[in-house]
Amino acid sequence: MSWVQAECESTYIQSVEYNVSKIEQQFVLLARIGEQPVGFSLVFIGPEESDPLFIQLVAVVPAARRRGVALALLSRVAERAPERNIALATLDNNVGALALNDHFAKSIGASIRRVPVSMYRRSHLGFAQSESHRPWIIERSHGVHSSLSFDKDSHT
Ligand SMILES: CC(C)(COP(=O)(O)OP(=O)(O)OC[C@H]1O[C@@H](n2cnc3c(N)ncnc32)[C@H](O)[C@@H]1OP(=O)(O)O)[C@@H](O)C(=O)NCCC(=O)NCCS
Repeated sequence: MSWVQAECESTYIQSVEYNVSKIEQQFVLLARIGEQPVGFSLVFIGPEESDPLFIQLVAVVPAARRRGVALALLSRVAERAPERNIALATLDNNVGALALNDHFAKSIGASIRRVPVSMYRRSHLGFAQSESHRPWIIERSHGVHSSLSFDKDSHT
């Protein structure tokens, strides 16, 4: 996780303790190409059955982008709880993330729409009061499959 954080422009390099706590408390998927870690997703599974999966971060190192890694990570996340919708937040100027989210929703036969900022706790969405991310909901009917290999570091 630290290596991916160091390589990605819009993520912070976190301490080992922070990353370990995320692995212990949340759902973290690491993507590898061969033995090389190339990306990860960080997900909070809402405590209520009616809660969505909150995708707090998906990050892929620049050298591995536009090869379907993020899409595969999101697809695996979706499989974690096929009955749940998926919530995520993006900055309006993050063109890549917006396109990815749209592509992902379509790939699982779901629809994506903006929701009010007040709809979910910022902590569940994974951003701070000072950040101007805006939330989206992906309303879906079923999951999809992918062919990449993954290490499931942990889940709640
Ligand atoms: C956004 C990010 C995760 C995409 O990762 P990726 O592995 O390159 O994405 P994929 O290859 O799975 O892309 C799947 C689809 O998403 C869309 N997409 C992804 N990145 C895109 C970009 N930079 N511009 C336009 N569309 C993009 C495309 O539709 C793409 O399909 P295509 O390549 O067949 O056209 C990666 O650029 C990244 O880590 N950025 C920095 C961190 C970040 O901003 N994360 C998102 C907010 S949490």
